[in-house]
Amino acid sequence: VINRDDIIKKIKSVKMIPPVVTQIITAVSTPDFDIKEVAKLVTTDVSLTANILKIVNSPYLGLIDKINTINQAVVVVGSKVLMNLVILTAAEMTAREPVHGYDLAGEDLWKNSLATAIASFTIAEKNKFENSNIAFTAGLLHDMGKIVLGDFIGSDVNEVIRIASENKMTFLEAERKVYGTDHQEISGMMLEYWKFPQILIDSVRYHHEPEKYTAGGVNEKYVYAVHAGDAIALKTGIGTGADGLTYQMNNTAMEKLGLKNSDMEEIMALTIIEFKKMEKDLVQNHPK
Ligand SMILES: [Fe+2]
Repeated sequence: VINRDDIIKKIKSVKMIPPVVTQIITAVSTPDFDIKEVAKLVTTDVSLTANILKIVNSPYLGLIDKINTINQAVVVVGSKVLMNLVILTAAEMTAREPVHGYDLAGEDLWKNSLATAIASFTIAEKNKFENSNIAFTAGLLHDMGKIVLGDFIGSDVNEVIRIASENKMTFLEAERKVYGTDHQEISGMMLEYWKFPQILIDSVRYHHEPEKYTAGGVNEKYVYAVHAGDAIALKTGIGTGADGLTYQMNNTAMEKLGLKNSDMEEIMALTIIEFKKMEKDLVQNHPK
């Protein structure tokens, strides 16, 4: 019998994130991060630097002159775009894993995470959040718990779906009934274990149930942005797994974020366009 403790123990066996990745993610998650500090951190890691320069020089950004250094990249592509690429590359070094269970074939989890990151970032930008990178990072990492929980679910995903539909439960409630925990709780615990900033932990921990985040404060809007970003990503159908079938969006989320239906449509269209560009240049041909 699988229990919650076994699942939590498994978190500690997941590959540890390189310290430089934790440092970068922590640095870009502060409201007034210093781009020079981040650039300095990036350059301490040779493979991270090489991967980022390769992306910056890919057709994705359509630059004419070749970029040879991270500092040059900051000047040419600007801090926002560069930070998204840094976060993407850093997260990819650890988080691009196949997922058993959840009906997530190949790189579906990674694709869905990227679509969620783009949608959450777009919402944050639209609402002029202090630091939209936080929404991007949280979107990218929100479903990491599936890597751990998926190993336990294995071929039993149909069992979770059956329990969900028979009891008219959400996928999350069915996960809790079967495993005593759910993938958002495990995502939160993983980020905690990796010593990521609290604002990221909160944003992934409540991504399906933002109303359960009761601490308020500045973190709340990021929780809602990732929730709505996830809903939009699922609607695009990009890398959607078994739990997408029973997804329920919180009915106050749009109001909290000041979004209308037409905004949702627009963000969804932007997400698809941006994802396709990124997928072509970053996901398919990206060096590992
Ligand atoms: Fe999720």
